[in-house]
Amino acid sequence: MNFIAAAEAPMRNTGQIKIHDPETAFAGMMAAGQLAAGCLDMLVSEIHDGVVTGRLDDLARQYVFDHGALPACVFYRGYRHTTCISPNHVICHGIPGDKALKEGDIVNIDVTVILDGWHGDTSRMYGVGEVPRKAERLMDITYEALMRGIATIKPGATLGDLGHAIQSYAEAERVSVVREFCGHGVGRIFHDAPNILHFGKPGEGPELKPGMMFTVEPMLNIGAPGVKILADGWTAVTKDKSLSAQYEHSVGVTENGVQIFTKSPAGYDKPHAMKRT
Ligand code: MF3
Ligand code: CO
Ligand code: CO
Repeated sequence: MNFIAAAEAPMRNTGQIKIHDPETAFAGMMAAGQLAAGCLDMLVSEIHDGVVTGRLDDLARQYVFDHGALPACVFYRGYRHTTCISPNHVICHGIPGDKALKEGDIVNIDVTVILDGWHGDTSRMYGVGEVPRKAERLMDITYEALMRGIATIKPGATLGDLGHAIQSYAEAERVSVVREFCGHGVGRIFHDAPNILHFGKPGEGPELKPGMMFTVEPMLNIGAPGVKILADGWTAVTKDKSLSAQYEHSVGVTENGVQIFTKSPAGYDKPHAMKRT
């Protein structure tokens, strides 16, 4: 794996890890990330028993347009929606449609916006009303796994350190790590090098350097890690139908640690923990 200054790199995934300018690129990513996170904040009060997932996608698209951005997923590899909405045993890439959420569901909503050319990519879990304890526990573990992964990020650490932090914590809590999907470099390009695996061995993989920007987005299952893709070509579900959860942040490596671009402006990073009345 080698590195290239983003300013000199072609606008595509060359397989090299781009080193971005810590001022201009990080400012652009912060603005895009805060907009994406604000979109997820806006959806908190819209999630209730009976809400149709297509309606949530409509609200997200309108929010993105109203804030001068574009939804990155529309027309991305033939996808047509602003968000991916993945309830219960759907791992990721659930397609919004006419399905209604119901009391007790847990659901991931993933949105990516393009603001001034920068991609802000983030997802969170939401609970619909009262959620079963085991579902609540899975969401808590998945959020904690994301944050433990992010906590390893600093110059000199490796991507194996990051993957190991997530995997060792998840498996100690007796949940499994999905292998088929990973995080990715992010910036002016939606899915760039490197792949960010959510499992690994300490010290292995590429070394982190200031100016790298990528997502961390672990998917954890209560049951086995196996994945099945439905006939629509997108929807990824757990093979054993067990519950799955995911959280995603876009981050940048700084001189002495990490900057999270997609923290919730409203403090709703874990909205399922809020007691709503
Ligand atoms: N936002 C997703 C990610 O975290 C990608 C969705 S691609 C789509 O990388 F086409 F399904 F929208
Ligand atoms: Co992503
Ligand atoms: Co995403």
